[in-house]
Amino acid sequence: MVKDTYNTSSPLVILAVESSCDETSAAISKNGRVLSNIVATQAVHENYGGVVPELASRAHQQNIVPVVHQALREANITKTMLNAVAYTQGPGLLGALLVGSSFVKSLSWGLNIPLISVNHMQAHILAHFIDEPRPKFPFLCLTVSGGHTQLVVVHDYLDMEIIGETLDDAVGEAFDKIAKLLGLPYPGGPYLDKLASQGNPSRFPFPISSMPAMDFSFSGVKTAVLYFLRDQLKQHESFIEENLADLCASVQATLISMLLEKLEIAAHQIGVREIAIAGGVSANSGLRSQLEKLAQTNQWNVYIPKIEYCTDNAAMIAIAAHYQYLAGQTDTLTASPNPRMKFGRK
Ligand SMILES: Nc1ncnc2c1ncn2[C@@H]1O[C@H](COP(=O)(O)OP(=O)(O)OP(=O)(O)O)[C@@H](O)[C@H]1O
Ligand SMILES: [Mg+2]
Repeated sequence: MVKDTYNTSSPLVILAVESSCDETSAAISKNGRVLSNIVATQAVHENYGGVVPELASRAHQQNIVPVVHQALREANITKTMLNAVAYTQGPGLLGALLVGSSFVKSLSWGLNIPLISVNHMQAHILAHFIDEPRPKFPFLCLTVSGGHTQLVVVHDYLDMEIIGETLDDAVGEAFDKIAKLLGLPYPGGPYLDKLASQGNPSRFPFPISSMPAMDFSFSGVKTAVLYFLRDQLKQHESFIEENLADLCASVQATLISMLLEKLEIAAHQIGVREIAIAGGVSANSGLRSQLEKLAQTNQWNVYIPKIEYCTDNAAMIAIAAHYQYLAGQTDTLTASPNPRMKFGRK
């Protein structure tokens, strides 16, 4: 069990950098409290309908120095006050991860302070320890992001167990790809969410794929929407424009029910009432409100991150690094990015 107290007579100040995908972010934490969290989102990818890895790396290179300077300035911290530096080791895009890791490793070497390598997905979950209220161990976390959909039993800060995950697309990917079919800009999840609030969620019942145990599958829904739209457009070319809000509401309701069905089964099976969601899709207003309703029925305590801590940010990397430092998990300068990095009990 990692002790979450720290001797305040010698503060623990960490600079953390996140660069796994298309957000360049830097944060400062002091004794496990976030003092600043700067995020530069890369708008360049909007023109391509998805993240272009090479452009992501170049944008990280341009953004990293100003983002780190701003994080230090806002926290009123100078480089010499840092006790450790942390970075996202993976999973993510190799070229993007390399920018953050090289930058942070050079700081570790130059300042002669420890380096901490953080798993991005573990950090999404630990975002719940940035602010109050904090979930109590053990809790069940549904992590829903652009690249992952996982059900995780969190036994302790650094002791996690994946009990289910998607066998194909992540739910964020499903949101974005279906949004693209509907002609919405990239990333489509937030646009689809906004339009869904004005539509009828039962208008178009899309099929729900049923997976064994705690696993998920979202590629079938995406294909079902693709074929449905293709058939409708043959008869009526402005079908999407005329039914956009209902289409968004129906898609969103389908995806949310697939997520919450498994969450409810898992919570009952494990016997936990502390339930959290994490990752970019946890910003979805429908998911947030449906989860609140389910919590009332099941008498769960639910933990939903603030919107700024749902999508990629370095504050969550700083918090993960804080607990790793306390557990003695520091790294050497030979550490390198791992695009397919795993976490959790084997
Ligand atoms: N309100 C919303 N409704 C639905 N999806 C959303 C919403 N806001 C963000 N998303 C989705 O969240 C995803 C981005 O989340 P996040 O930044 O955590 O993913 P990622 O870092 O790319 O992937 P991973 O964390 O798995 O490596 C995108 O798919 C985006 O569309
Ligand atoms: Mg992420």
